[in-house]
Amino acid sequence: MVGGCIGGERVQTRLSTSAAVGRHDITPAKPTSSLTSLPLTWPHKGWDVKVVQEVVPSHRKPRNLSDRIAWRVIRLWGMDFLTGMPSEQKAGNNYRAMSESQWLVRFVFLETVAGIPGAVAGGLRHLHSIRRFKLDQGWIKTLLEESYNERMHLLTFLDMYRPGKLMRLMVFLAQGIFYNTMFVGYLLSPSFCHRLVGYLEDEAVATYTKCLDEIDKGRLPQWTDPNFKIPDLAVKYWNMPEGKRTMRDLILYIRADEASHRGVNHTLANLDQVSDPNPFIEGHSNINHMHLAAVRPAGLEREEVLEKYALKD
Ligand SMILES: [Fe+2]
Ligand SMILES: [Fe+2]
Repeated sequence: MVGGCIGGERVQTRLSTSAAVGRHDITPAKPTSSLTSLPLTWPHKGWDVKVVQEVVPSHRKPRNLSDRIAWRVIRLWGMDFLTGMPSEQKAGNNYRAMSESQWLVRFVFLETVAGIPGAVAGGLRHLHSIRRFKLDQGWIKTLLEESYNERMHLLTFLDMYRPGKLMRLMVFLAQGIFYNTMFVGYLLSPSFCHRLVGYLEDEAVATYTKCLDEIDKGRLPQWTDPNFKIPDLAVKYWNMPEGKRTMRDLILYIRADEASHRGVNHTLANLDQVSDPNPFIEGHSNINHMHLAAVRPAGLEREEVLEKYALKD
């Protein structure tokens, strides 16, 4: 299932008319632009340029049966199949690179799914806290902030791509299935769900890395056109500096966010789900928690968390 043919969607290229390379219609509408006048609920802390460049795809080796099941689930029902990602290795000379619109279809679908786990986990932990009269060990905010961050990814891409009816139906069904599965799954085994999300984020980092490779190989000319403008919302949310506002810069920022989710979720999966502190809680250390998570692809080990990041009274 690929790109521009799902439900007759149109892609907003945001190229100036003269610079358009003519593969898609150009529409002036900006569905998310009105949001740029609203204050951000959770402003992004920004990215260190060095960290952003250093993010690499990784795979945390499963260490037990639960890990192996989580990894299999992600591989078997992986997004490559659902969104028609071609493999250059397998296709060889028959490889056909994905167009900008096909990448946007993939991103939009991935991000509609990616925004669910943090909201489910944060919501359930919130309910648990008020039902059991217990503190949450600092987990809720990080989880809700993760789902907000994913939603900002989605809103950014929606400024460049307008889903058609079929795509909307797919998102509706995927959301219904994934939300409810995640809800029940998190009640049964929160650590399994965090591991599953960790592996999903491994895949997200790989996807954005592949997109960066394609940009660097010159296969996505609309995005490297000097007249291409990324959405205002993205500039505001990531506080992107002047001169660093290309599509490549934007993908680098988003990939770094995914790397951060990867580190957070693999770490949370390593912890005791009831009693251990969230080491990424803000103000807990002077280290930017997103940076800390991004540079630890397999997450922090439990002993390390308890030793260095135990909550102090
Ligand atoms: Fe995302
Ligand atoms: Fe993510």
